[in-house]
Amino acid sequence: MYNAFFGFRENPFNLSPDPSFLYRSPQHEEALANLIYGVHGRKGFIVLTGEVGTGKTTLLECLRDELDAHGIEFAYLFNSRINPQQFFEMIAYDLNLQCDRRSKTEVLFALNHMLIEEANAGRTTVLIVDEAHNLEWDVLEEIRLLTNLENPKLGKLLQIILSGQPELDRKLEAPELRQLKQRIVLRCTLAPLTLAETTEYIRTRLHRAGMTEMKVFPPEVLREIHLRSQGIPRIVNSLCDNLLLTAFALETKVTSVEMLDEVCLDMRLSWPGMPRHFRAKITPSQEPAWGPPSEG
Ligand SMILES: Nc1ncnc2c1ncn2[C@@H]1O[C@H](COP(=O)(O)OP(=O)(O)OP(=O)(O)O)[C@@H](O)[C@H]1O
Ligand SMILES: [Mg+2]
Repeated sequence: MYNAFFGFRENPFNLSPDPSFLYRSPQHEEALANLIYGVHGRKGFIVLTGEVGTGKTTLLECLRDELDAHGIEFAYLFNSRINPQQFFEMIAYDLNLQCDRRSKTEVLFALNHMLIEEANAGRTTVLIVDEAHNLEWDVLEEIRLLTNLENPKLGKLLQIILSGQPELDRKLEAPELRQLKQRIVLRCTLAPLTLAETTEYIRTRLHRAGMTEMKVFPPEVLREIHLRSQGIPRIVNSLCDNLLLTAFALETKVTSVEMLDEVCLDMRLSWPGMPRHFRAKITPSQEPAWGPPSEG
């Protein structure tokens, strides 16, 4: 809506996990390098964790691009609320396995066959599960069994990447999942951005969208965006998007902390240390100003 006003080619703060907008903070860079190294190095089992909105799916999208570029076959499960039968059906569907996809035995047989063929051709195969903190124990157990697919000469045949919120780490600590935890070869973690990283993140996105300078977000606004978003990229995007919209409505090309206050109220955003008068405004009052409409 405001793109033409600010001279953007496209929306700088879109909420979709778009690899072309990737900001390579040191930790995003390291995590992506680990994922790529883990796959090419046939490490077997990798876990990526991070708080909500820190960029896990974005990194997985980058990894998909890398796999596509190298002609590596992969199954990408983004819905993890599934039972074991659905798990195998989804793998069979993604890897285009020619078998009765509803039969676990047939899927395993076809999968094994495919993995060996790919390995003989010098390629590996990847299973990516996003939102893996939601996986049920019985599916995690099937995943453990898949980590056993290896060949003395060809090594690990299937590279498995589980990505999820920090609950995933806690889940993997459970005594029942000891065997699965032991198989993790690489762990990557995404933490919230620092103030310097948040500033760089915003600059990167503006630049990618066609704006070369940062005048639109003065330093005091950047500081407040970092504080109020707690360095979580998804919240940074929402704040910046709404700020730009507000500035556009006011026909100004520079945002302010007052505008940010309005945006935070509209978003009902709370953050540690937020002023009391602010909290009072976003906490719904216990007493409705007027009663419910009487019936009849
Ligand atoms: N390094 C980054 N570079 C560019 N954009 C990013 C980065 N990290 C996060 N984002 C942006 O932040 C938003 C949230 O990212 P993403 O969906 O990848 O987070 P997530 O960790 O998968 O969240 P959830 O736990 O809710 O699944 C997206 O709009 C994404 O584009
Ligand atoms: Mg995600």
